[in-house]
Amino acid sequence: MKVAVVGRGNVGNGLADLWERAGHEVARIGREGGDVSDAEAVLVAVPGGAIAGALDNVQGIEGKTVIDATNLVGVDPPAGSSSNAEFVKSRTNGPTAKSFNTNFAALYNEIREARSAPSNLWSGDEEARQVVEQLNRDAGYEPVYAGPLENAAAQEHFLKLMFAINQGGLGRFFYRMAPPDQL
Ligand SMILES: NC(=O)c1ccc[n+]([C@@H]2O[C@H](COP(=O)([O-])OP(=O)(O)OC[C@H]3O[C@@H](n4cnc5c(N)ncnc54)[C@H](OP(=O)(O)O)[C@@H]3O)[C@@H](O)[C@H]2O)c1
Repeated sequence: MKVAVVGRGNVGNGLADLWERAGHEVARIGREGGDVSDAEAVLVAVPGGAIAGALDNVQGIEGKTVIDATNLVGVDPPAGSSSNAEFVKSRTNGPTAKSFNTNFAALYNEIREARSAPSNLWSGDEEARQVVEQLNRDAGYEPVYAGPLENAAAQEHFLKLMFAINQGGLGRFFYRMAPPDQL
């Protein structure tokens, strides 16, 4: 599959590496922007508050299947949207999903070492299911459907619970968790 990742950080580059290893062709787009006309799927992995500006710099995204991996750390979604994923949909009018926002990028290289494939939530449009579930499995995750795109807001709020669990000293990632402003 031809995939474009918008955001070349921990998540964008990390998933691009995993997907390339699985045989996908991945274009990596940074803050300078670019054209995703060729892509069959687009991953958005920029800081949550930068989503509007990032999409402004991306051409050819209308109607594309987009997976939004952003989290809202100290920011709200753009005015008029209940989640960043719904904001993406309002811009693209294509199949849209929220996924990859509830697993830590620092563990990407350990996914395959897990005793069983770690679960990864996705919520969103039925039309996005095939692409999202394939890209989840090709990264090493077992996709878990969390309902329609209206549920993306709940999935974005889930981050607060993850922080609470980690800061409570539970969870394998606790001892090496990065400061929340870097997640
Ligand atoms: N890290 C995690 O474990 C994790 C897990 C799940 C979800 N998330 C979420 O996923 C998103 C990305 O996280 P990350 O850890 O990959 O962050 P990161 O390492 O800081 O990378 C963010 C990337 O976005 C780029 N960027 C910033 N503003 C942009 C813009 N306007 N247009 C295009 N690109 C822009 C940055 O470019 P520059 O390099 O030029 O600054 C950088 O390459 C965040 O919303 C985060 O909350 C993170």
